Amino acid sequence: MEYSRLSILFFFLPLLVTTASALQRNYYATTCPSVESIVRGAVTQKFRQTFVTVPGTLRLFFHDCFVRGCDASVLLASPNNNAEKDHADDVSLAGDGFDTVIKAKAAVDRDPKCKNKVSCADILALATRDVVVLAGGPSYDVELGRLDGKISTKASVQRKLPHPEFNLDQLNSMFSSNGLTQTDMIALSGAHTLGFSHCSKFSKRLYNFSPTSLVDPVINSNYVKQLKASCPRNVDATVAINMDPTTPQKFDNAYYKNLQQGMGLFSSDQVLFTDSRSRNTVNLFAANSTAFQQAFITAITKLGRVGVLTGKQGEIRRDCIAVN
Ligand code: HEM
Ligand SMILES: *[C@@H]1O[C@H](CO)[C@@H](O)[C@H](O)[C@H]1NC(C)=O
Repeated sequence: MEYSRLSILFFFLPLLVTTASALQRNYYATTCPSVESIVRGAVTQKFRQTFVTVPGTLRLFFHDCFVRGCDASVLLASPNNNAEKDHADDVSLAGDGFDTVIKAKAAVDRDPKCKNKVSCADILALATRDVVVLAGGPSYDVELGRLDGKISTKASVQRKLPHPEFNLDQLNSMFSSNGLTQTDMIALSGAHTLGFSHCSKFSKRLYNFSPTSLVDPVINSNYVKQLKASCPRNVDATVAINMDPTTPQKFDNAYYKNLQQGMGLFSSDQVLFTDSRSRNTVNLFAANSTAFQQAFITAITKLGRVGVLTGKQGEIRRDCIAVN
């Protein structure tokens, strides 16, 4: 290769490298070096007030990333109820998840060095790691450098989030459109080891499943009894039950052990065991919690890269619930 071609190559090489990885672990090393400990402190304080901090924040991150990318658009409020969070698939997001990010942002901005330097999208990504650790899950490094989006509409949520009656093909196609594999999808579904569901999300499985069977035949019969007791027909719409009936406040692999027993709450949970294409992975995660934790870290890191905004596409929001 002649000299001029070589120099062109070396001139562009750093550019290629930086575009290949938009996010970095030490993104705030000079602008806000204490960001990790500040966020951890605020999240820990919120966690001491209510456990809902944990599932609320984890689900919020997932719903943010699947709609317009991980850009904190889910946090934006709209005066005429036309934001992402007003869509039917988002209205049950726990207020404590939003409050966690708002409190962590306030803590970050109290440090003069950090004021208006850290995006709400990055604070949500950090807070998500912190709640997983607080619930006994694995720790991992969080990639940073996301910008906050300027757009949030109810319409953009349509067909972007999975529904509890989805089958394996529907789950795989939605996750693969976000760059996630079936294994990533199964590992991320392990988040249902924490938190609550309203009865309406699964009551069809108990009372009017199909023309030939009122109850979904794949649910464990004792679990059906338990679920019917907590969620009688026409139950109050505010009633919510633990999604993991065994260790609801532990980030562990009990979710997969429950699936082996026919104790998945949603069809989209149980299908991971009933479908032979995903059963081996469920069995692996049930048997080996290290394998589950490693797969979860890989998957949540990939989730955090979905649709990340850079440059003029985004901003560092001053207030997480409003564009600048
Ligand atoms: C695989 C497809 C998925 C479906 C169909 C699904 C569906 C649901 C539904 C219907 C609820 C109950 C909402 C309610 O009644 O209030 C729920 C709760 C929850 N989901 Fe998922 N989800 C999926 C994947 C995920 C992923 C990937 C995560 C995070 C990594 C996640 C985290 C959570 C958490 C933590 C809760 C409990 C929320 C709380 O207690 O406030 N889910 N999910
Ligand atoms: C569990 O999974 C880890 C990570 O994949 C692996 O290194 C380990 O050998 C597995 N343990 C057993 C008992 O199979």
